[in-house]
Amino acid sequence: MILDGKALAAIEREKIREETQKLGIQPGLAVVLVGDDSASQSYVNSKEKACLELGFLSRVMRLPASTPEAELLQIVMDLNSDKSINGILVQLPLPGHIDENLIIDAIDPDKDVDCFHPFNFGRLFIGSQIIEPCTPKGIMRILDHYMIEIKGKNAVVIGRSNIVGKPAAMLLMQRHATVTIAHSRTVDLPEVCRRADILVAAVGKPLMVKGDWVKEGAVVIDVGTNRVPDSTRPKGYRMVGDVDFAEVEPKVSAISPVPGGIGPMTIAMLMSNTLALAKYAHGIID
Ligand code: GUN
Repeated sequence: MILDGKALAAIEREKIREETQKLGIQPGLAVVLVGDDSASQSYVNSKEKACLELGFLSRVMRLPASTPEAELLQIVMDLNSDKSINGILVQLPLPGHIDENLIIDAIDPDKDVDCFHPFNFGRLFIGSQIIEPCTPKGIMRILDHYMIEIKGKNAVVIGRSNIVGKPAAMLLMQRHATVTIAHSRTVDLPEVCRRADILVAAVGKPLMVKGDWVKEGAVVIDVGTNRVPDSTRPKGYRMVGDVDFAEVEPKVSAISPVPGGIGPMTIAMLMSNTLALAKYAHGIID
């Protein structure tokens, strides 16, 4: 079974559009991009497009890589007090001279659409979260849509980032999976992966997970978005995941493809979080 994130994301976006229309509010998302990393530019463009399609207010600020930390801090603080903005997203990674934690800490937790602020991240670990980080939320949504049982399963998450690995592990654990977080220093990673009923790959290494790394019948979620050079493509590259799809797909019961898997779900969940924060700001509680 192919876990079709592109199709599910379209359904989710439509639900968000209908709910927003019914409520008669206009959620506002501010996205701040510092520098000219081309992958980040393309993510930010997709976020802007999704906002506009839903009728959300979209404010995208594209700043030079040389932007001083103090200037970015001031921009975040201005967005914190801007009533038309419900969600603030500072695209990561930031240039080396800017302290990412300092910037994330400055975002008003009530506008922290990524769920990256320590207050919200802490709530996630306690289990009292109001919103959830977009990619892990997208993973859970796709597993639920395809009615994949999580309770009691062995889940292995490869990658320990704050954006995906750690929060995905936490959400899987909240749903009663037995979770292992593996990473670059894990000894005998293929053996650890072979124990997984649910394998989440979020490392950023093209085609790393091979056919003999997965158990027969496992569910594989590929979070990788790696560009590999390909002169036959108009842009000179193609996207591949962290999983060697050709080798792994015949062995597993379900797998998310790249592209068209978790990527579009992440954007849809960003829209879902923006609507949730807008509802919160308007005092609308379901
Ligand atoms: N960089 C890669 N993924 C993300 C994300 O989900 N949010 C932000 N802010 N930056 C990212």
